[in-house]
Amino acid sequence: MVNRVFLVGFIFATFFGVIWCACRQSYVTKCDHFEDLKKYEDIENMRTLIIGSEHGDVEPSPVSLIEDLDYYSYYRLSTVIIVRSINQLKPQLSWKCDYHESSLKYFTLYANKLKVIEKDQLPRISLKLFSLVNNGIESVKPYAFYHQIEEIDLSENLLEVIENDSLPSESTSVSIRNNKLAHIEADGLPKGLKNLNLAGNQLRYIPPEVLKNVKNLTELTLRHNKFNSLPPIKHLEQLVVFDISFNSISTLERGTFEKMDNLKLIDLSDNNIHQSDVLQLLSTPGKQPSLTVSLALNRLSNLELENLSLQTQTFVLYGNPWKCNVWHEIKKSLSVRESDCSFELPSNETLPICVSYVVDGDYSARETEIAKFVAAFREILKNRPRNVYCRDDLSRNKWLYPIKRNCYGFHG
Ligand SMILES: *[C@@H]1O[C@H](CO)[C@@H](O)[C@H](O)[C@H]1NC(C)=O
Ligand SMILES: *[C@@H]1O[C@H](CO)[C@@H](O)[C@H](O)[C@H]1NC(C)=O
Ligand SMILES: *[C@@H]1O[C@H](CO)[C@@H](O)[C@H](O)[C@H]1NC(C)=O
Ligand SMILES: *[C@@H]1O[C@H](CO)[C@@H](O)[C@H](O)[C@H]1NC(C)=O
Repeated sequence: MVNRVFLVGFIFATFFGVIWCACRQSYVTKCDHFEDLKKYEDIENMRTLIIGSEHGDVEPSPVSLIEDLDYYSYYRLSTVIIVRSINQLKPQLSWKCDYHESSLKYFTLYANKLKVIEKDQLPRISLKLFSLVNNGIESVKPYAFYHQIEEIDLSENLLEVIENDSLPSESTSVSIRNNKLAHIEADGLPKGLKNLNLAGNQLRYIPPEVLKNVKNLTELTLRHNKFNSLPPIKHLEQLVVFDISFNSISTLERGTFEKMDNLKLIDLSDNNIHQSDVLQLLSTPGKQPSLTVSLALNRLSNLELENLSLQTQTFVLYGNPWKCNVWHEIKKSLSVRESDCSFELPSNETLPICVSYVVDGDYSARETEIAKFVAAFREILKNRPRNVYCRDDLSRNKWLYPIKRNCYGFHG
């Protein structure tokens, strides 16, 4: 019966060119539009609510996220996902209660057109995760978010600046990947921040005042930006993972990592590091229980190893234009300190591990040769399957979130 009504409605809708809209309860509650939700009765069983769809017929419209969703009524609702339904956030018109405590913990806006997010447009609810990936956001104004949001994800938007006080002040995890960030204002980051991921932006520089405030940072990811030198991180003593791969760093400042006793990964791969005393400059104190340093895909041709205590360290070194006459010595000295990747990758006969430099050779010809050498490695890494260990993206969860496993077999 229900099916027949649905079918008739569907034919009617298709025939007359009207759009068939409703809410349906299946493994989640799905609504085509905000208006449908207002008519929907079965509030009690609503745990996950999806409004809109990525390829739907319904045109996005202006929505008030505070007034059009009556959070207090949906007392079991934990997850809301709104897809391609909003083309403008309406501000709250009149005074309304703030429901700081609510069952709602995960809020996702995806493929909407939000452009600018101002104060009084977003619900004031404490959340575990607020995801705003891919909404065409160009600007977030100060105090746009409620302060109690544990994790916020603004990736795949068009942000150019992180303005003062524009992020939730109590967030511990912030991700703004693949935007157009070129600047962060002094009070732009939440003070209790632990994870910050700004990969895929236009950053050349982070002012010292910005990082001065985030002393609890454990993971800092700045891959695929435009840094020529390391940002001022010397005081970030809690860092576990520091990733600044795929930038243009050519020089390192001595002692940057000196006080970071918990450090487990420094990823400097795919930069422009030439300095043969790079390991002396890194001068990691050797206090870390285990530290991996990736210098893969740089411009190292030699490596000074004098006076280093490297007991607990592992190095990833492939894709550097090593001088053939020094490489074998380096390899021998570092034998147990070298990552498996350094051996696994050059096993391909077509890929030389070192370069035989011609004495007094033409400088530009040599530079071209080195560029080709590094590019060949880069190409191979890019095409490696996800399940192999040596890739251009070192998996980091094993350092940040080590999982203890116990596996038991059954007997008779
Ligand atoms: C951001 O905050 C800092 C520190 O409070 C202040 O010096 C700076 O002027 C602010 N920037 C803007 C654009 O308001
Ligand atoms: C940093 O971490 C410590 C220890 O967990 C905590 O007491 C402190 O409040 C944190 N700082 C901020 C600014 O959240
Ligand atoms: C190594 O240490 C010795 C003794 O402290 C010192 O004389 C020498 O200059 C050091 N070498 C380098 C390259 O730092
Ligand atoms: C060896 O490298 C070349 C390119 O440098 C690539 O075409 C070929 O597939 C690689 N072979 C293996 C077995 O990985």
